Amino acid sequence: MSDKTGVTRTKDIETVLHQNDEAHAGQGLAKRLSAWDLMGFGIGIVIGTGIFTLTGTEAKNHAGPAIVISFAIAGVVSMLAALCYAELAAAVPTAGSSYTYAYTTIGEIFAWIIAWDLILEFALGAAVVARGWSGYLQQLFGLPQAFFGEENSVVNLGAVAIALVLGVVAAVGIRESKLVTNALVVIKVSVCVFVIAAGLFFVKAANLKPFVPPSQPGEDAGGLKQPLWQLLTGIQPASYGVAGVFVAAAVVFFAYSGFEAVANLGEETKEPAKDMPKGLIGTLVVCTVLYLGVCFVITGMVKYTGLSEGAPISDAFDQVGLGWASILINIAAIAGLSSVILVDIVAMGRIGFALCRDGLLPASVGRIHERFQTPLRITLATTAAVCLLGAFVPLATLAEMVSIGTLFAFLVVAIAVVVLRRTKPRMERPFRTPSVPWLPAASALSCLALMASLAVETWLRFLVWLALGLVIYFVYGRTHSRLAPGVSDREVTSRLGGDEVV
Ligand code: ALA
Repeated sequence: MSDKTGVTRTKDIETVLHQNDEAHAGQGLAKRLSAWDLMGFGIGIVIGTGIFTLTGTEAKNHAGPAIVISFAIAGVVSMLAALCYAELAAAVPTAGSSYTYAYTTIGEIFAWIIAWDLILEFALGAAVVARGWSGYLQQLFGLPQAFFGEENSVVNLGAVAIALVLGVVAAVGIRESKLVTNALVVIKVSVCVFVIAAGLFFVKAANLKPFVPPSQPGEDAGGLKQPLWQLLTGIQPASYGVAGVFVAAAVVFFAYSGFEAVANLGEETKEPAKDMPKGLIGTLVVCTVLYLGVCFVITGMVKYTGLSEGAPISDAFDQVGLGWASILINIAAIAGLSSVILVDIVAMGRIGFALCRDGLLPASVGRIHERFQTPLRITLATTAAVCLLGAFVPLATLAEMVSIGTLFAFLVVAIAVVVLRRTKPRMERPFRTPSVPWLPAASALSCLALMASLAVETWLRFLVWLALGLVIYFVYGRTHSRLAPGVSDREVTSRLGGDEVV
């Protein structure tokens, strides 16, 4: 451990690995996962509302048929980030997330910021997917838009219902079985392949023109809805055009979020050095190819101005007269999106627990319920937040917040890779990010560029969130951290109850 009092104090890698061994003693975390297994897991987590819903919203409002370019840009940015992520994941092969990598390498305050950011990613991510789920339910049963859709939404009851049900499922400790997870992956990939193959027959060249709709003067000069870079440069705000393609890229970056979870499986991977990068990049390549195909077909089937914002994929099939296909897609989307919500809520419990375990949040918050063996309070609080957000905040607004949070975390990771090569040159690195410092620099700059394409109001909300996080850290975490002088490990652990790792 470095300086005990400073905010950049670090956890000892050995201690983390040891803590991990203890927690998993007897559970035998066998090194059994191959690159293929990692890809299956990754695809299962990544494919969700991003492609099923945001495609429609963003093509209609920002990019037109060039939404396909937006998805390609976001895919490349994700790949650069994945190559940086893989170095830290392989060097600190614990079941923890980027929070743990940061804690053992760049220091506590950065770890806290990343964790605070992850809370944003998972809680808001669950709300986004819950609203996406509701949109497909609305389309399947013809339910009222005001209570289940995105257009003229009053309160989204569908999102509240699914978040509530899955929140309770997570709270009582029911996890998805491997069989269900695998089945859902197959369903999601098959739907995308089906949409591409069947939809191709209905693509009309006229719908794809103009490919990049001409830039139109926006009404938001000086306002909060314009991208940050327009506010900074004073350029007249505009919709569509090349700027619109970048705005859409920043929002649909959400569609790739979640792939980082693959990096958490380092411990269980046969050969992390080889399998991890293959698993990460493989996941992103498969998702990118499917995403580009779906985007092309959907905007080719229906003029972008006529796309649905709630359930664009099934609605496109409805519009070309393939009602039966639309029903199949709705059912598959409803099933496939449920698993993403559950994973997000469970992940929130884990992050919250880790923060309480390390003393950065009060132990009573993360206490493990005796009977369910889950961090019940965190899970229920998360569920309540997801219900509230899902009920009232539009899907695209929530997705923008997740995008900015995730991009920021990747920015920190890219910087960390370069800094650590200098400060800890001897650290063992089973996987090395290629072309350091150029690749991490490209990753950091591209994350910044996408962040700058997000709306000023998204930045403001994000800065408020970060400021709130810093206040909590300085008021509570800094002095109650396990690394702070005089804080007893045993005291924190006994207040948490249950096992060390959820
Ligand atoms: N990438 C996930 C989705 O698109 C979170 O829903």
